[in-house]
Amino acid sequence: MQQAANFWDQSAEKYASSPIDDIEAYNYTLGRTRSYLSPSDKVLEVGCGTGSTALLLAADVNHIVASDYSGKMIAIAKGKAKDQGTENVEFITADLFDASIENGPYDVVLALNLLHLVEDIPSALRRISTLLKPGGTFISKTVCQPGKGAPLKFRLIKVILPLMQFLGKAPYVRFMQTGVLEDMVATQGFKIIEAGDYPAPSRYIVAKKI
Ligand SMILES: C[S@@+](CC[C@H](N)C(=O)[O-])C[C@H]1O[C@@H](n2cnc3c(N)ncnc32)[C@H](O)[C@@H]1O
Repeated sequence: MQQAANFWDQSAEKYASSPIDDIEAYNYTLGRTRSYLSPSDKVLEVGCGTGSTALLLAADVNHIVASDYSGKMIAIAKGKAKDQGTENVEFITADLFDASIENGPYDVVLALNLLHLVEDIPSALRRISTLLKPGGTFISKTVCQPGKGAPLKFRLIKVILPLMQFLGKAPYVRFMQTGVLEDMVATQGFKIIEAGDYPAPSRYIVAKKI
């Protein structure tokens, strides 16, 4: 786990300075996410990276705890929050499974571009469920198995990933079929209320805790 966090520590500066790949799709899913939020909501984001999304959603909710196991990602996120004077986002360095993520239950949990990096997804989903209120909303975006029509970038990643991982230049990644991911979400006590590809193979899923 520490090794994976180190990988993201080393990638943090580059991640922070890289433009969003598909800004139209990003803005679309940001809008969809906003549509599920209320001003009184207490939100948890797991794997928040450099905090861009949490900071954009801060004005839509009461409070956000935004967590990531990379201390470097969190340091950048805290700097951005300070620069823009955002006070209702609390950035913490924590693994998804860390007990330091508490003070729930939350109205909404966000896991954006995270689950494909997690080795035990059913456990992660159970953990997220315990942090949510009954009827709470789980919003995720996950890179799934790139199909033939997927952008060249994803098809190339699929081919070179094993070599990159062997050289320590890429973290653990599992690209599932979207159906497999959605079955896992449903099996762990969620009802999927919205799902779509923005764009494939990036699967956006909104689910309610049953
Ligand atoms: C691809 S980045 C996505 C960042 C952000 N959510 C976004 O959409 O831009 C994945 C992030 O998840 C974090 N991460 C991966 N596994 C994690 C875990 N088990 N617990 C907490 N953070 C994790 C990494 O440190 C990294 O910052």
